[in-house]
Amino acid sequence: MADPLILFMPSGKRGRFPEGTTVLEAARQLGVYVESVCGGRGTCGRCQIEVQEGQFAKHGITSADDHLSPFGAKEQRYAKVRDLKSGRRLSCSATILGDLVIDVPQDVAINAQVVRKDADTRVIERNPAIQMCYVEVEEPDMHKPLGDLDRLKSALAKDWGFENLLVDTYLLPRVQKVLREGQWAVTAAIHRDEESGFAHLIALYPGLKNEAYGIACDIGSTTIALHVSSLLSGRTIASSGTSNPQIRFGEDLMSRVSYVMMNPEGREAMTTAVRAAIGDLVDKACTEGGIDREDILDAVFVGNPIMHHLFLGIDPTELGGAPFALAVSGPVSVKASEIGLMLNTGARVYVLPCIAGHVGADAAAATLTEGPHRQDEMMLLVDVGTNAEIVLGNSTRVVAASSPTGPAFEGAEISCGQRAAPGAIERVRIDSETLEPRFRVIGIEPWSDDPEFGKAANGISVTGVCGSGIIEVVAEMFLAGIISEDGVIDGSLAARSPRIVENGRTFSYVLHEGSPRLTITQNDIRAIQLAKAALYAGIKLLMDKMNVDHVDRIGLAGAFGSFIDPKYAMVLGMIPDCDLDQVKAVGNAAGTGARMALLNRGYRREIERTVREIEKIETALEPKFQDHFVAAMALPNKEDPFPQLAKTVTLPERKTLAANDDGRGGGRRRREGGRRARG
Ligand code: FES
Repeated sequence: MADPLILFMPSGKRGRFPEGTTVLEAARQLGVYVESVCGGRGTCGRCQIEVQEGQFAKHGITSADDHLSPFGAKEQRYAKVRDLKSGRRLSCSATILGDLVIDVPQDVAINAQVVRKDADTRVIERNPAIQMCYVEVEEPDMHKPLGDLDRLKSALAKDWGFENLLVDTYLLPRVQKVLREGQWAVTAAIHRDEESGFAHLIALYPGLKNEAYGIACDIGSTTIALHVSSLLSGRTIASSGTSNPQIRFGEDLMSRVSYVMMNPEGREAMTTAVRAAIGDLVDKACTEGGIDREDILDAVFVGNPIMHHLFLGIDPTELGGAPFALAVSGPVSVKASEIGLMLNTGARVYVLPCIAGHVGADAAAATLTEGPHRQDEMMLLVDVGTNAEIVLGNSTRVVAASSPTGPAFEGAEISCGQRAAPGAIERVRIDSETLEPRFRVIGIEPWSDDPEFGKAANGISVTGVCGSGIIEVVAEMFLAGIISEDGVIDGSLAARSPRIVENGRTFSYVLHEGSPRLTITQNDIRAIQLAKAALYAGIKLLMDKMNVDHVDRIGLAGAFGSFIDPKYAMVLGMIPDCDLDQVKAVGNAAGTGARMALLNRGYRREIERTVREIEKIETALEPKFQDHFVAAMALPNKEDPFPQLAKTVTLPERKTLAANDDGRGGGRRRREGGRRARG
């Protein structure tokens, strides 16, 4: 008779094991991650599993509760003290008697905490870099003069298989006290992430320590978001966010690099500012989650290259110009205490690798989350900022580049542009008959043409147009025939609508008559054209490299991606044609990637491998960039068709207006295109 067949879900791993094997042992042998802190003593409750009963014809398994040994003494004792949910078994106690399908629940909550849903709720299979190991250590004996730490190490080798364990120096003076406090029973926190194979003892607790936490943090140039997760259950315990205090040194990335170049203390000031902000966020999250920062043992950080460098205390000056040399592109592993983070003294920090000088660890994290390298479909990932980070690929090949979009999409360079804040216009519609606009303002629920608008404004006045509003107003102006495909405002419409007004030698569109009066000028449109042409040209270069003329899916990452309407982004020709249902905001993809790397060190190896294999394209060096840029100055594009978009949106007939702006039409724009192309 063959040994019983055991199938673990959700991993799908399976194997045959002799009767009497514990389920925990079977999981270990198959490489299925089942937590265990107490080492099978039946006291931690971390090893819980459930039997899925029934016929699983596909696998040839009939699984039943009684294919496990009856509830044992350890389980009875645990159930009495700690409340074991019905149907749950302790895998260190239950032994195999027959074929089984075993479910490893991903959310075992021992210390039931209030769980916030701010972090995305995807289930991340766990295999953290930190392992909590309970051991009972031999008491000292005059006849065997082996040190306390040495006997602790032998116990960890015997019970948990950790040979050649390295010990953090700060623990040496503490070992004896902790061992005695725990009456020779202690829980060791072991960090085992180094590819070298060495494991480190990083923290030691008296008795059974049945919890450990980690943080995952996305350092954006505008905002910093941080999540605290249980390393033992995977649950997100608390989330907090704040604006990046470096903003006071410069709004965008390049101005922060300039600040470092101009001020001898600049780098240090910015490093201190970002680390202090992260420290405050940790405090806030710990208070919210009711946990002690001493219990945080691991941390994962992602950020664009400049944030990455400043956080690690590295001067980002080299990133300010070609060849955009990173000080370090691979993953960085350090002790939290080495970079001034106040967590547990032994806590470790892992920073994801950067893809290239302008494509950072945030893009790597977004890639890990969205997984273009794990699928057959051709996926485009775009993170729009002052520099757009672009990743394109599928399971056979992935390429990446950045494109110098400039700050126009963030409202800078636009006469009425502003940050997304109360009072900013974020949505715009224009009636193509009357050319009258209606809009929605951040902080005011009804649209501007709603009779309730004035009342709902409640003191908020319309102050400007934010990034998503600018994209919509330009796209709507195009759809309403106010601007030509070359982006020229049709002055002849002034006869039809008071919204079109002369502005020197060009025309403007009056979006809001108020104080301030908000107009979209010819220069504003040009700034948007330049930005979107740079983005599209970068994407197009990558499509050339991959030899594809369309993409199957598009993910818009970052805060900006969450606010823009993909339809309008496509009408403008920021992104290539694609089925609109397949264009999604993947807002916190970078933060999710950081959580994945926190909870499963397998993901660290995966993204390290992927980043090594990603082909980096330097847009500034590609001769085709300029041609793509020139074609992309048109709305949506001079050369590329948008058949999928045309299914949803009626694109206007092509009308090319003579440049009526004193030579600042097509010819001049081309020259600007060339300048931008060379970065
Ligand atoms: Fe601790 Fe099973 S391993 S209860």
